[in-house]
Amino acid sequence: MSDCALLPVIGGDLRVPLVMGGDARYTNLDYAASAPSLEVVAARVTEALSLYASVHRGAGYASRVSTGAYESARVVVGDFVGARPNDEVIFTRNTTDALNLLASIVPGETVVLDIEHHANLLPWVSRNEGSGNDGSGNDGSANDGSGNARVVTAADTIAETLELVRAELTRRPAALLSVTGASNVTGEILPLRELATIAHRFGTRLAVDGAQLVPHRRVNLLLEGIDYLAFSGHKIYAPFGAGVLVGRSDWLDAGAPYLLGGGAVTTVTVEKTEWRTGPARHEAGSPNVIGVVALARALEELSTLSETEWTTHEGGLRSRLLDGLQSIPGVLVHRIFDDSADSVGVVSFSVEGVDSGLLATYLSAEWGIGVRHGKFCAHPLLARLGVTGPALRASFGVGSTDADVDVLLRALVAFREVGPVASYEFVDANWTVVDDPREVPAWATAGEGAGSYGCAA
Ligand code: ALA
Repeated sequence: MSDCALLPVIGGDLRVPLVMGGDARYTNLDYAASAPSLEVVAARVTEALSLYASVHRGAGYASRVSTGAYESARVVVGDFVGARPNDEVIFTRNTTDALNLLASIVPGETVVLDIEHHANLLPWVSRNEGSGNDGSGNDGSANDGSGNARVVTAADTIAETLELVRAELTRRPAALLSVTGASNVTGEILPLRELATIAHRFGTRLAVDGAQLVPHRRVNLLLEGIDYLAFSGHKIYAPFGAGVLVGRSDWLDAGAPYLLGGGAVTTVTVEKTEWRTGPARHEAGSPNVIGVVALARALEELSTLSETEWTTHEGGLRSRLLDGLQSIPGVLVHRIFDDSADSVGVVSFSVEGVDSGLLATYLSAEWGIGVRHGKFCAHPLLARLGVTGPALRASFGVGSTDADVDVLLRALVAFREVGPVASYEFVDANWTVVDDPREVPAWATAGEGAGSYGCAA
């Protein structure tokens, strides 16, 4: 049973308007896209705002505090992920930013799987465009430090996929293997320790896109042999715009600075610039101290959970959801691997004969439920899973309860048995309620009707 939240989150008692009138408690089942703020995170942000000032740029008391908070957060992040003494913790905007940074400094080829979301695909494969390397490795492109990517098509089992990765690295070693820790579509977890062992045998480093794994499981660089780890504050209960890349310093110090500007340099003349090493090399400009403070506070709070209570809570919710979905006729739950044994709180599914966009709109309008629909910024994976249109995704975390799962299941059953109450229409590639009476605050009207434009198509 997961009948109460493991940690309190902001918005846990939010009420939202329904299309038939009245309101309902907001059922947030969209943690995988952006998780709510922990209450302790919001409290720390309020505290930090009162002391907010420039970082690394001022002698004032508030600047000293802000600088100390920023650098203390680096220590908290390193400790949380088991960073080695020589690893660097670099603050970024999010996972996408962190992986773009890594892609900009990798001294050679990268191998990726075809199951990745765009953040761990596009930074690598877009480097192939115009290079004559189509990712197949059959183009004769040498491991010449050009930063190109090779894509391994995952098999139907994790065991076979590991063999395919091994075979690809045997065929031609690469500088880096970059894999997701947990799929943002199915929640399935990859065996990172085994992947690290395979990669290291060929002198290849392992990067892990931890966007979906770190908010659900303890991840330890040292113990698991991970060389680089990226994750986002907004998926780990600190939605204030910070992300992180942690990992080995040699490539980071040798690579070109990611952002060019103040803070990344030691001396500058118009003819010549001397760049710093260390995190500052890649963090030019005034940093997001509030975001970083929030991220560190979230990690401190998650550290207080025992691994067992964390996985029991989320595992219970996942089982409850899967059992319920399997009992609804026409529901197909998506998975990549036949042999995956462990998954985080992310479940994608389709309902036969029903557009997922319409379902998501109905769930929100008539039940106050927030889920994500679309292709989840993972178009190749959705194609591989045989999902032609959008799918639906329910995802949860430490603020979720059985009641959240139950209301979703009730709403899906009601859709199948009774159908929607309101009228819906498909306009400009989005499902909307006809004559929708629900209002949003005046300061939040511009995006109305825009739907999930970015990754839904
Ligand atoms: N990776 C983000 C998600 O799954 C985009 O929602």
